[in-house]
Amino acid sequence: MLYRALRPLLFRLPAETAHGLGTKTLRGLQAATPLRGLVRDRFRVEDDRLRVAALGTTFPNPVGVAAGFDKDAEVPAALGDLGFGFVEVGTVTPRSQDGNPRPRLFRLAEDRAMVNRLGLNGDGVDRVKRRLARTDAGVPVGVNVGKTNDAGPERAVREARRVADRLREHAAYVVVNVSCPNVPDEFEESAPAHLHDLLGALSEAVPETPLLVKAGPDQGREALAALVDVLDEHAVDGVVATNTTTERPALGSPHAAETGGLSGAPLEQRATETVRTLARLDDDLTLVGVGGVDSAESAYRKLRAGASLVQLYTGFVYGGPATARRINRGLLDLLERDGFDDVEEAVGVDA
Ligand SMILES: Cc1cc2nc3c(=O)[nH]c(=O)nc-3n(C[C@H](O)[C@H](O)[C@H](O)COP(=O)(O)O)c2cc1C
Repeated sequence: MLYRALRPLLFRLPAETAHGLGTKTLRGLQAATPLRGLVRDRFRVEDDRLRVAALGTTFPNPVGVAAGFDKDAEVPAALGDLGFGFVEVGTVTPRSQDGNPRPRLFRLAEDRAMVNRLGLNGDGVDRVKRRLARTDAGVPVGVNVGKTNDAGPERAVREARRVADRLREHAAYVVVNVSCPNVPDEFEESAPAHLHDLLGALSEAVPETPLLVKAGPDQGREALAALVDVLDEHAVDGVVATNTTTERPALGSPHAAETGGLSGAPLEQRATETVRTLARLDDDLTLVGVGGVDSAESAYRKLRAGASLVQLYTGFVYGGPATARRINRGLLDLLERDGFDDVEEAVGVDA
């Protein structure tokens, strides 16, 4: 309610300024111990039917925060208090980097979408590690790892390995981001030959931690089949599908032509289809569905397509602090409507 009243003001600020304000508010919440219990009581939906056992961890509910929202692990506990079932921090790079010049984040309100070309800005692994070491998020934390923007293939492998190795003790899972559309085209990061080297190094670096790959939304069945072959070879546990798209479906907002990755509602269907294709190709992979999740219905579509867990970023920006509660409550209604005993029973029924 309050968010709905404040949103027009917040949306008058440049998108990145509003995001900074949001993070600051969450930092305040995370530091205010007595307030945290109240927030948790208000926003967390505790229900055994929402619980998901995946990747060797129990997630209290399947609705997580996607990478990029809390790049530097500043507020994972506050996000858990707001009712999210897990938080993926990152993409974490080996050193701090600035990313692209501002403005680089745009709201497409008419399309319930955003375009960003942040370019993997962040504090770097050392600061992220310090923050994770002193924070108990209260929910599982995934760590999304990447490379310095101008790294070539060999350095990219070394860097991702180092970041994963440094953060593994704090990670419920590690995911390597090879699908960011906003970094210079040094080389084809998702090419099977490179993935082969990268995943070989990572599975050596984090043998005890579930390892996933973050895929883009614009690959056809053949490219996804080639991806699955490489994943199987290295016993990779799963895929986070998907990242943003550089394609532009019909959009109504003035910012539609901005360069960058498109997220939110216009991405939903192609992300869900990517999940479904992956589920059909390999039912051993654990899939994390992301792209345009903004309601119980859209979360449910990803679960039914084969995702064990879902994540969102853009839907949280438009939906505000009650987003996870709304989705989790709605999921319970949908499970009941369709006669499922719990979320896990619905996973993959439409694959
Ligand atoms: C501003 C912004 C920054 C993002 N940064 C990252 C990132 O650092 N690493 C990553 O893997 N994905 C990043 N993403 C992609 C999201 O994790 C997610 O895959 C994508 O936005 C689709 O989900 P959504 O429609 O719920 O936003 C970012 C997305 C946005 C909007």
